[in-house]
Amino acid sequence: EKGGYDHFMLKEIHEQPKAITDTYRGRMLPIENRIKMSSIEDNLDKFLNANRIIIIACGTSWHAGLVGEYLFEDMARIPVEVEYASEFRYRNPIITNKDVVIAISQSGETADTLAAIKLAKSKGAFVYGVCNVVGSSIARETHSGAYTHAGPEIGVASTKAFTTQITVLTLIALKLGKANGSLAPHTFKNYIQKMQLIPRQVEELLNIDNHVKEIAAVYKDAKNCLYLGRGFNFPVALEGALKLKEISYIHAEGYPAAEMKHGPIALIDENMPIFVIATNKGHYEKVVSNIQEIKSRAGKIIAVVTEGDVQVKEIADHVIEIPDTEEALTPLLTTIPLQLLSYHIAVMLGKNVDQPRNLAKSVTVE
Ligand code: F6R
Repeated sequence: EKGGYDHFMLKEIHEQPKAITDTYRGRMLPIENRIKMSSIEDNLDKFLNANRIIIIACGTSWHAGLVGEYLFEDMARIPVEVEYASEFRYRNPIITNKDVVIAISQSGETADTLAAIKLAKSKGAFVYGVCNVVGSSIARETHSGAYTHAGPEIGVASTKAFTTQITVLTLIALKLGKANGSLAPHTFKNYIQKMQLIPRQVEELLNIDNHVKEIAAVYKDAKNCLYLGRGFNFPVALEGALKLKEISYIHAEGYPAAEMKHGPIALIDENMPIFVIATNKGHYEKVVSNIQEIKSRAGKIIAVVTEGDVQVKEIADHVIEIPDTEEALTPLLTTIPLQLLSYHIAVMLGKNVDQPRNLAKSVTVE
């Protein structure tokens, strides 16, 4: 049932090209140059007239929500707030019937997310769900929604659910951006064309697994790791750190790259591996100068860069190249080597990758 893979997590990492394709199939229509999602079309007024979109989720799904914030604001110019469901529900939040709430959950059973949905509904908000499990509690409790088509995710550490959540959020952002005129027709078209290439590009990244494994072998005994990214890749840095800590039990933190000098820089010495996402269109020069600051403090740099990169390659200890795409779509690519890296480190340390200690696949208690 693991399809020849040693663990469900590795199988699920490798299923991502198909999971992403399955998630956009029938929704993204390149020939017609449009996105067809009846759940959005039927509620288009609510989305377009919303004061703001509030995204609620937990854990990895919250990280997907953060990518969603960047996507919605950039493509559709709609203000977005992203909230941990557990904080949102207990904060006496301000919600009105002009708000649209998007709840994201792989399992569709997370207790805090479910409770936050009920609260938002009681205040009159329109609640839209992005779930992977058909017929789950959250899928039933929301007014409308779109499923991710990742297929069953067995590994406790979420992988293909994350990339398919980002896929759905990208489709919605593109659709709303086209509908309200924030995205010029040629920009919309370009995104769809680039999106179509993503599954094959993910496949390419899965093929450099050996290179990632070599890097894992070098850093597997680290006690602490830092993950840095900016813009669309700031949430990917958070997700990279979460993946490492939950399955390898190595302490890891994700930060927006520019925040480094406001504290975490104090941690940097020759024993500190720092994973930096430095894609070519993502505030590249700023990230390069962050990397230089790290190097001058003897930190070890493992950089995720765009293929053809020159500058970062000269200063980083290791680089992992991702294929070129639009910056807004890079989280679907930069995530992949970070998943593989965590996987290999955890395996090398002899940890139970699919069922890490203290964690449950679905958190049905608060
Ligand atoms: C991390 C992980 C958790 C879940 C979180 C939310 O790999 O799996 O952080 O993302 O418990 O779960 P769902 O998405 O089922 O609501």
